[in-house]
Amino acid sequence: MEELFKNDIKHLEELSENDIKQELSDNDSKNEGEDVVSYVDTLLDLQLPEENIRKLEESEMVALCSEFLDGGTDTTSTALQWIMANLVKYPQVQEKLFMEMIRVLGDGEEEGDKDMPFDAGRRICPGYNLAMIHLEYFVANLVWKFQWKSVEGDDVDLAEKQEFTTFMKYPLQVHLSPRVRRQ
Ligand code: HEM
Repeated sequence: MEELFKNDIKHLEELSENDIKQELSDNDSKNEGEDVVSYVDTLLDLQLPEENIRKLEESEMVALCSEFLDGGTDTTSTALQWIMANLVKYPQVQEKLFMEMIRVLGDGEEEGDKDMPFDAGRRICPGYNLAMIHLEYFVANLVWKFQWKSVEGDDVDLAEKQEFTTFMKYPLQVHLSPRVRRQ
């Protein structure tokens, strides 16, 4: 398991390093006239005021990219699983959300829901807005397209298992039925 983890990190480092090198060679021509600036580009432009306005080393950029990727993946996917588990365990909440979406959107597109532990550690999460956008988007679409019901004889158990993030001890099992759209 530890070996697997090390291989993963090594792969991630190689991947980030290659990506950073690619960005370095593209950096002069890109960025101008673009509304969206990538995270790596912000790191390339960064100058450290307390250290003689020096630029970041490649290894520092790799570490920051790894932290960004690690910090944003398991956290968001487990949060999504917890939200869906609660919507299955409390069908009246799922129904209320669905009705609210019908009220706001008619029979049109998509929307979402809140309250997360983004300040659980000593530092505040810089990925808050990004995570909320993703979670709202996923939850809204999952509830809009499907009705989520518990599997017969398997009540949703909200017991926790502490790892890097707080996982569900018993992963969510569900029965999905496509929503019938009235048109
Ligand atoms: C539901 C999703 C998420 C939750 C619950 C969450 C929660 C947190 C918490 C509690 C911390 C502070 C940890 C500490 O003080 O030790 C943190 C830090 C951090 N988060 Fe998130 N996070 C989420 C999503 C994301 C996403 C999507 C990104 C980036 C794409 C991200 C990037 C980071 C980074 C880089 C830090 C370290 C900040 C620093 O060094 O000061 N997080 N997050």
